[in-house]
Amino acid sequence: MIYLKMGLAILCLLLVMDLFLLIHRWFPQFPSWALWGLLLLFVLPCITFNTIFPIFYLHLMFCLLITQLICLIFHQDVKGWVFFIPFLLAITICIYGIFNMKNIEKTTYDLQTSKEIPDTKIVMISDLHYPNAMTEKDLNNMVKDLQKEKPSFYILNGDIVDEFTSVDQMKTVFQTLGKLTKTANVYYVFGNHDNQHYANEPAFSKETLKKVIESNGITVLQDDILHFDQITLIGREDSEEKRESLKSLVKTCNLDSYIIVFDHQPKDISLCEKLGVDLQLSGHTHNGQIFPVGSLANSLGIFEHDYGMIKKGNFTQITTSGIHGWGFPTRTEGISEYVSISITSN
Ligand SMILES: [Fe+2]
Repeated sequence: MIYLKMGLAILCLLLVMDLFLLIHRWFPQFPSWALWGLLLLFVLPCITFNTIFPIFYLHLMFCLLITQLICLIFHQDVKGWVFFIPFLLAITICIYGIFNMKNIEKTTYDLQTSKEIPDTKIVMISDLHYPNAMTEKDLNNMVKDLQKEKPSFYILNGDIVDEFTSVDQMKTVFQTLGKLTKTANVYYVFGNHDNQHYANEPAFSKETLKKVIESNGITVLQDDILHFDQITLIGREDSEEKRESLKSLVKTCNLDSYIIVFDHQPKDISLCEKLGVDLQLSGHTHNGQIFPVGSLANSLGIFEHDYGMIKKGNFTQITTSGIHGWGFPTRTEGISEYVSISITSN
């Protein structure tokens, strides 16, 4: 977190310097000290951190650099449009991002297996990071939509809360998600943010969180295995915690059953395939959430699988971009989604 805040501070300073150079060239008669002061006041809202402001400055910086590059290529002087177009673009992108974050789409996958299993429908949500931009009304509407799906079971695949969530908000979100248990069983695995270990002063402990989740009828899976009719569920502890190896977990499973692994972070994907796992479900990546994070992560290969479905023989892996997003109330990359997976025997 500290590195992210330092990065944003450096970005704001670069933005101030860039704007100073541009405006000073355009209005050389304007006193430098007054311009510095005004520009520093302009970027001051960035200290609010988990608001729209840092994202606005990030996109403004990006758009300013593009327009300046265009000016340089076409030997154009600094004129009004060099400011106004980037400002307009950054505002438009942020407004789009707020709507995009709040607009939850349904993504459907239809899978087939040669194993004899009953028709199964899984509804997965991940990376809610409640509340961020989500109101209690939005949360209730989301749960109503999820109830209409009538799946065989739900999986809450981590990062349902984070270091910005208060105790009351944590209780509210799990009480509301607990309503899903009237429709089908609900399983939960920890994400890297849920237990607030990035917070200086956590509002709740992992033990308290677990008690609240379970008191709402949701089953927590921490390196636990559940056996059903020809279906085995393995819920892994988050990879940033001490956890059982995948090999030791799979060793106890009946390989004739359809094995599904829930792992918040998309890791051990090749190992899943090698060990005979049929389906691995993850979240965590948000598919970037803030442009160009996702595109950069994808090209640098930071995650084993950023978004969507991979099929290798009998093995399938699905990474969701999450139903909401972390930190900033906007999504300028990827979509907010819940995932519905239907599995049938062929
Ligand atoms: Fe995560």
